[in-house]
Amino acid sequence: IFSLVKASEGGAPLYLQLKKNIEDAVQRGVIGPGDALPSERDIAIKADISRVTVRKAVQDLVKSGILVQRHGSGTFVAPRMERVEQSLSRLTSFTDDMARRGMSASSVWLDKGIYPPSPDEIMILGLSAKELVARVSRLRIANETPMAIERASLSLAALPDPEAVGSSLYSTLDKTGSRPARAVQRISAVNLVGADARLLEVPEGSACLHIERISYLASGKVIEFTRSIYRGDAYDFVAELRLAG
Ligand code: GLP
Repeated sequence: IFSLVKASEGGAPLYLQLKKNIEDAVQRGVIGPGDALPSERDIAIKADISRVTVRKAVQDLVKSGILVQRHGSGTFVAPRMERVEQSLSRLTSFTDDMARRGMSASSVWLDKGIYPPSPDEIMILGLSAKELVARVSRLRIANETPMAIERASLSLAALPDPEAVGSSLYSTLDKTGSRPARAVQRISAVNLVGADARLLEVPEGSACLHIERISYLASGKVIEFTRSIYRGDAYDFVAELRLAG
């Protein structure tokens, strides 16, 4: 992978050669999904090129989704995505969904705290302008793969202490009898850019699904307002349709 032909010997630009060699190695299965690449420094030494050249090749491959970079732990061949089929007619939690598939659900916390509400939150959660709102934002991971970013807002009546949320929001709500009984979900298409694309380890501009869920208690009171971004390459949403009568 790391033996390149110098320009003086008629070789193509070094970063292009390195890029192509890595691409070929992935295609031929020499390195497979989840395998770690040597560090930038080690590649530079092995290929006898500058770190800037290595970085340029690696960045291009990250942009095209062949490699993924994980903060602090290095560069890896992108995991093969197994698509997940998600029913549109059952009110389940991410933790339930993953458990049913035998996958382990985990989260990276992006935020949990109490804030003055935004106009959207005031309207949807039926808050007064003086009330505060609980927010829990997480990157949701199945096995090793980041699947979704979920930003949930709840009234303090439903979730007085966002710090108390452990691995599952719905099981925290369960404890106070506030698990939602019904929800309305709106799905739209987005092209993901910037920090959110990096969190989901997808190339800039990737097709993703924006899912807004408003959940209700059996009493009809709104309990949850969540905006999520799901990877378009990971999810199929499935609904059973019956003849309208
Ligand atoms: C789904 C929904 C979210 C909900 C979450 C709760 O992913 N899209 O609206 O907040 O489940 O999941 P958990 O109980 O695993 O935190």
